[in-house]
Amino acid sequence: MVVAGQAEVVLYEKRDGKAYITLNRPRALNAFNIAMRDGLYQVLGAVRDDPDVRVAVLRGAGDRAFCAGADLTEFLTAESPTLARKARWDRDVWGLFLSIEKPLIAALHGYVLGSGVEMALCCDIRVAAEDTQLGLPETGLGIIPAAGGSQTLPRAVGIGRSLDMLLTGRWLTAREALRAKLVDRVVPAAELASAADQLADKIAVHSEAAISSAKQAVVRGLDLTLAEGLELEARLARRLVN
Ligand code: COA
Repeated sequence: MVVAGQAEVVLYEKRDGKAYITLNRPRALNAFNIAMRDGLYQVLGAVRDDPDVRVAVLRGAGDRAFCAGADLTEFLTAESPTLARKARWDRDVWGLFLSIEKPLIAALHGYVLGSGVEMALCCDIRVAAEDTQLGLPETGLGIIPAAGGSQTLPRAVGIGRSLDMLLTGRWLTAREALRAKLVDRVVPAAELASAADQLADKIAVHSEAAISSAKQAVVRGLDLTLAEGLELEARLARRLVN
């Protein structure tokens, strides 16, 4: 299915309990623009609300990039970065991303820059092709990540590695990202789609309630003290047997 009204910048397909979301501006390296934000908002709502969807895979069209960050033509032609950023609050796609209780898999390849990294960090499991390069060029543009990256990155890779990436703008290869725990698996580029699909299949066969509870326990638990996390776990566990 092509998202109505958003032309073809975000594609959405559903198959066997799995949703596939494809960022589809390959000629612009899938740079994130306002149309893409709107398309994503729509399809993420579908993932959240559709009982047939048990797991979703987010990927980029074309062979060069998952996403090369914010669309600089849009961003730098806005009257000010503040105005450009204001558009974000009209539709909080990042808040929606992070509120989804179903597992989200990011299938990464090529350039994964700026909001590309941030989108990947909104997903739960990141599979990367060997050719993936990941970086946060924001400080070089006089801004900082604002799609959650300053908070989600340190939760994944720790403070030192986050600041190394953020302050220097240094890019990581797929293997470096694996060592840093920024990605969870690295596969040959030709096997990316099947690796993400197999992972989604393994998840989709399990009890939806158990999968969602396990995700909540881990993701929400990270923001709690150990005692609060144990309470959350106990509550979720009880709910599954009642
Ligand atoms: N916004 C808008 N367009 C972008 C883009 C972005 N973030 N990144 C790439 N593109 C476009 C290019 O303008 C080019 O379009 P054109 O063919 O109409 O000229 C096309 O995508 C291909 O990119 P190109 O720069 O020719 O490829 P490359 O292999 O030489 O370089 C990058 C690839 C990713 C290194 C380079 O495109 C780049 O630095 N992009 C910007 C990354 C960035 O700073 N993102 C913002 C983070 S906040």
